[in-house]
Amino acid sequence: MRCHRIRRPQRGPVGASLRPVWLLCPRSQNVDPMSEKRTLAIIVGSVREGRFGPVVASWIAEQAHRHGGFEVEVVDLADVEIPLSMPAASPKFTGDAYPRPAAMAPLTARLTRAEAFILVTPEYNHSYPASLKAAIDWHFTQWAAKPVAFVSYGGPAGGRHAVLHLENVLTELHAVTIRDGLAFPNYFVGWEDGRPLDPDAAGYAKVLLDQLAWWAAALTTAREATPYPA
Ligand SMILES: Cc1cc2nc3c(=O)[nH]c(=O)nc-3n(C[C@H](O)[C@H](O)[C@H](O)COP(=O)(O)O)c2cc1C
Repeated sequence: MRCHRIRRPQRGPVGASLRPVWLLCPRSQNVDPMSEKRTLAIIVGSVREGRFGPVVASWIAEQAHRHGGFEVEVVDLADVEIPLSMPAASPKFTGDAYPRPAAMAPLTARLTRAEAFILVTPEYNHSYPASLKAAIDWHFTQWAAKPVAFVSYGGPAGGRHAVLHLENVLTELHAVTIRDGLAFPNYFVGWEDGRPLDPDAAGYAKVLLDQLAWWAAALTTAREATPYPA
């Protein structure tokens, strides 16, 4: 059960405006925010023909189901048309009025609904794919004050360059990036039958998911109590 934000009249003259106050619940309704399942969007960042991304996304989705703290949705950017040409205005300043193509509405709704994200990204030329950048850039409030974790893969660096770039970009969008990520170097020799060969991988995923669940609970509670001042 969630408590609702309560508005109270400000002390002062008659006609004083209502202002939001901190989340207040009767004691009996107080619920540990950590006990609620959080909506997690796992985003498959690559859309290339013959891509490996869905294999990685499917494995981390399985780990998230097993973790138990999330309602898991896999969002595949290959299913969405994301034009590179964008409207004149910025989504930062237009909010819900941002004129997105009708076909993008399901993606926008899923990003809006999400309380946490995992970006599954390969490394393309020491960065992340243009498909992922386009999906990020078409949105703004959808990322703000929400936690984002990374699962990367690639050659010897395991996608670390891609993640460094993503951390920088997501800071601009007021997202909170999670310290512990998962990186799979030389994934072409490190995976078999849809699973990483590293026996510690599931344990590392649990650490990432624990941190993500903590931040998702903390930030959702804070957003519900007070609108984020983005
Ligand atoms: C255009 C392009 C650039 C790449 N650049 C890098 C790179 O800089 N570093 C790296 O480790 N791997 C690089 N790779 C290899 C990819 O990490 C690898 O092909 C991976 O499978 C791509 O993910 P995907 O299969 O989901 O598209 C590149 C691949 C492509 C297609």
